[in-house]
Amino acid sequence: MTQDELKQLVAQAAVAHVVEGAWLGVGTGSTVNLFIDALAASGKRIRGAVSSSEASTARLRGHGIEVVDAASVDRLPVYVDGADEIDGRGHMIKGGGAALTREKIVADLADRFVCIADESKLVDVLGRFPLPVEVIPMAAPQVARRFAALGGQASLRLGVLTDNGHPILDVRGLRIADPLAMETEVNQWPGVVTVGIFARHRAKLALLGMPQGVRTLDF
Ligand code: A5P
Repeated sequence: MTQDELKQLVAQAAVAHVVEGAWLGVGTGSTVNLFIDALAASGKRIRGAVSSSEASTARLRGHGIEVVDAASVDRLPVYVDGADEIDGRGHMIKGGGAALTREKIVADLADRFVCIADESKLVDVLGRFPLPVEVIPMAAPQVARRFAALGGQASLRLGVLTDNGHPILDVRGLRIADPLAMETEVNQWPGVVTVGIFARHRAKLALLGMPQGVRTLDF
């Protein structure tokens, strides 16, 4: 099976975890795009969606699904999103699509993070995928120096600004053995808007696409 077929498999499987008649949190990326299409095709009705990016908002609205601001909703029963890496405890690296800040905000509203990904995203230790960090521009050099002290090499993602208008640093060479500790530490650094470690907002459920079918990990 191709990677796209594996993504299609989990996108379809995720529809079963959507709570009918309720608000739904929707992430960003190629797997989520397939999920939005699968949800629309399923005929399952939701009250509306809170979206983590302009791209997902446009796709949802294209299917006639109402999208509201995060400010209009107190809680979301479910948030569905992809990941760049996920470990065996549901910790993730996210932000490859530059939507990490809004993703964390919407995930924070949700009772249950359902992660959908092909099996190549499952790792023992996070860090092979370069860690995305959204920063205030003037802080980028000093944030990069702090990562260098931890053994990471940070580089600006060229030609990319987030939906919030900020640049992203991609940090290579990290081995994130304690995701919660590193997320907590980097969150303290002046000028960091969001670090793409999702430990505090880890997945409660992962649906991983494999050639044999969908592997479900309940954390
Ligand atoms: C977006 O910023 C990311 O967090 C995505 O969720 C992540 O990059 C996964 O994307 P794909 O589904 O395209 O692999």
